[in-house]
Amino acid sequence: MDSKITEREQWTSRLGFILAAAGSAVGLGNLWGFAYRSSQGGGAAFVLLYLLIVLIVCLPVFVAEMALGRNTMTSTLLAPVKLAGKNWYPLGILFFIAPLGIASYYSVIMGWTADTLFHSLFIGLPKNLTEAETFFGSISTGKSVLLGHLLSLVLTALIVSSGIKKGIEKVTRFFMPILFIIIVVLAIWASTLSGAWEGYKTFLFKFDFAELTNPQTIRNAFTQAFFSLSLGIGIMVTYASYLNRKSNLPKLSIGVASLDTLVGLLAGFITFPIVLTFGLSDAISESTVGALFISIPTALGSYGAVGRIVAVAFFALAYIAAITSSVSLLEVPVSSLMDKFGFKRKNSVWLITVFLFLAGIPSALNLNIFATVDSIFGGVLLIFGGFLVSFFMGWVVPSKFNDELNASKVGIKTTRYLKFMTRWVAPPIIAFGLLISLFDLLKSWVS
Ligand code: PFF
Repeated sequence: MDSKITEREQWTSRLGFILAAAGSAVGLGNLWGFAYRSSQGGGAAFVLLYLLIVLIVCLPVFVAEMALGRNTMTSTLLAPVKLAGKNWYPLGILFFIAPLGIASYYSVIMGWTADTLFHSLFIGLPKNLTEAETFFGSISTGKSVLLGHLLSLVLTALIVSSGIKKGIEKVTRFFMPILFIIIVVLAIWASTLSGAWEGYKTFLFKFDFAELTNPQTIRNAFTQAFFSLSLGIGIMVTYASYLNRKSNLPKLSIGVASLDTLVGLLAGFITFPIVLTFGLSDAISESTVGALFISIPTALGSYGAVGRIVAVAFFALAYIAAITSSVSLLEVPVSSLMDKFGFKRKNSVWLITVFLFLAGIPSALNLNIFATVDSIFGGVLLIFGGFLVSFFMGWVVPSKFNDELNASKVGIKTTRYLKFMTRWVAPPIIAFGLLISLFDLLKSWVS
């Protein structure tokens, strides 16, 4: 496989990597996906399954992805081939296509977020559910949605075209602390609402054992875990390819996964009190896409000036979280074109941005297409990618995985544990989750 590798950039420090990777992980998935998936009947059982999947399955996959990236120091398209030969090119192609699929509609949600933010800031909040639905209707159709999609892509492209250090790392270093401050302040504010306790109970303690075997809950938990941690599509392969040889991969994975899970839970501490205080549970679980953009503004609309300030903070938070994720989605295909064809970063960025704008138009204009693309690219494909990468590092090139664990100097016990998990535990559990998810997805299409 001929590739024209240009000199590779590196993160300036470990913190730079952690913030960039956490920036990728923390995104609309934490604020939007977590709320509606845990409301879809799963409740606390969903949260428990999600946490178990993160701990048992996603952590080894995280280390496996990083090991692949750092060992090869190349982008996702070429990394599997570099380690195991041409037969593994399809894995590289999957890692090239999957982020394009997600990026094509992620910017559509970013457009809705920006519209809602500006509306809350300059015009005000809806007075009731009908008004909110009319507003969401207006921002999710026609020119408005296309403009939001386009501008979000352009903003993402401008950051990625500035490179790893001057673009992605600089932006995430600046925005991640702001994001944490906003989310903590909002969670404190939400704890003062009259339905706060009810919210926590629903989210954390309303435990129904039957939900643990409900295919929809299992699919939701797998999807949320992989989507939220940005796993299974080569993001961490790419980001780890800009790490130096000495970094401790397991430690970095735990840092990023903990930050992401913390933000997911904190987001629940914001959305659930709001939802239960204003009796919006049904509206949230019924409308997967509109949950955030219809229910939250309606609830806050009845809270006067404070509600408006909170709405502005909430949607600013969502946009910040989204932009640090969308840059990672763009970086994967961009670095692949640079490594494979020797493209200049800027050319690669703008070529892919034009493609993403066009590919996202159907999702932007039709919510059914949007939901289908999301359930394929943002769901089963990620889980499939997670399976393949753990199988690849655990069974196909175990010695390379070993090399990376040794280079990380994690000690014999951790090394053994991770090797065992990557070979014997993660692949079968992910395969099981994938089958259930496929079955549940097909069932939802048929009904
Ligand atoms: N993790 C991001 C979120 O939770 O919104 C979205 C995302 C980014 C998903 C990158 C997948 C990915 F590869």
